[in-house]
Amino acid sequence: MAEAVSSKPVADSQAERSEIIFPNDANALGNLFGGRLMQFIDLVGAIAACRHAKAITVTASMDHLDFVAPVHVGELLILRASVNRAFKTSMEVGVKAMVEDMIGTGGTRHVASAYLTYVAMDMMGKKIDVPQVVPETDHQKRRFDDAAKRREMRTGEVLRKKELRAAMGNIWNV
Ligand SMILES: CC(C)(COP(=O)(O)OP(=O)(O)OC[C@H]1O[C@@H](n2cnc3c(N)ncnc32)[C@H](O)[C@@H]1OP(=O)(O)O)[C@@H](O)C(=O)NCCC(=O)NCCS
Repeated sequence: MAEAVSSKPVADSQAERSEIIFPNDANALGNLFGGRLMQFIDLVGAIAACRHAKAITVTASMDHLDFVAPVHVGELLILRASVNRAFKTSMEVGVKAMVEDMIGTGGTRHVASAYLTYVAMDMMGKKIDVPQVVPETDHQKRRFDDAAKRREMRTGEVLRKKELRAAMGNIWNV
């Protein structure tokens, strides 16, 4: 069995995915559905998380999701994901989605961003510890610091919801 790694640089797990947008992914205005974009974001984020953890990961949450600009049919969508910070069994991954003007200037425009939390699991579905992240560049260090602040907000919210669910019981079991 391979020896567990205790820390890894961000660059080791960064992921990129490209998609041409087809009409079956669009609404009547010819713009990409938000839900489909969320799926692309989740998939690329999961690749970065799995690479970092060297394990199966599940999505615990997606937050700070901003749809900045529409994506049109025929455009090239590029999604980039990096693990911003690892905690115990969870990791925050940042995903940025851009559209590239591939037959024109080659320039890009920012269309969406999100932060996702993934939890690493073994093959039995048991949570496992993940390696820590080693931020190297100034950008990575800023995201690493900000991830701790976002986790604080998230944890408060998760606890409040858990308490609410416990207090209400499972309303679907009535
Ligand atoms: C996410 C999940 C594994 C958390 O399980 P849990 O038993 O509540 O776990 P814990 O409270 O012990 O938390 C485990 C870790 O997840 C984090 N976490 C839990 N819920 C979270 C949430 N909603 N958002 C962000 N992080 C969360 C905790 O902070 C903790 O992180 P740490 O180990 O790095 O400190 C569990 O709720 C689950 O399996 N959910 C379904 C996942 C899934 O199917 N995703 C696909 C979407 S359909």
